[in-house]
Amino acid sequence: MALERTFSIIKPDATERNLTGKINAMIEGAGLRIVAQKRIQMTRAQAEAFYAVHKARPFFGELVDFMISAPVVVQVLQGEGAVAKYREVMGATNPADAAEGTIRKACAKSIGENSVHGSDAAETAAVEIAQFFSGNEIVG
Ligand code: CMP
Repeated sequence: MALERTFSIIKPDATERNLTGKINAMIEGAGLRIVAQKRIQMTRAQAEAFYAVHKARPFFGELVDFMISAPVVVQVLQGEGAVAKYREVMGATNPADAAEGTIRKACAKSIGENSVHGSDAAETAAVEIAQFFSGNEIVG
C-alpha cells in the first residue's frame, strides 16, 4: 500500500469538550502521523467552500453554522493507505452506526455533531489539504 496523506478536521463539538488530545491519541494509535495541524476559527466563506459538494442538501445551512460555531483543528495525516485507514478510525458518519473503538463511537454526539471529518479519496484529500495548508506547513 502506498504512503498517502489525508485531510482531517476535529470539529467544534470536539474542540469545545477538550477532546483534541483524545482524538489525536486515537489517530496516532492507529499508526497515522500528524504531519500538519492548526487550530483555527473557520470563516463562513471557508466552510461554504469546503462543503460546496453538499450545497443542495437540506442540512447544508445547519452544517455550515455548526462548523463556524467554535474553533476547529485542521490536520494532515500521513501513513500507508491513510485515506481508508482514517475513515476506519473515524467510524460511520452517524455515531449510532459507528463500531466500538472508533472516534465517532467514543466522541460524537449526533450525525451533524460527529466530531471529525476525513477525506473520502486521495484526490479529494489533495484538494481539501490545499484549502487550509501551504506546502511548507506540512512536514512529513
Ligand atoms: P463530514 O464527513 O464532515 O461530511 C459532511 C457532513 O455533513 C458529515 O460529516 C456530517 O457531519 C454532516 N451530515 C451528514 N448528514 C447529515 C444530516 N442528516 N444532518 C446533519 N448533518 C449531516
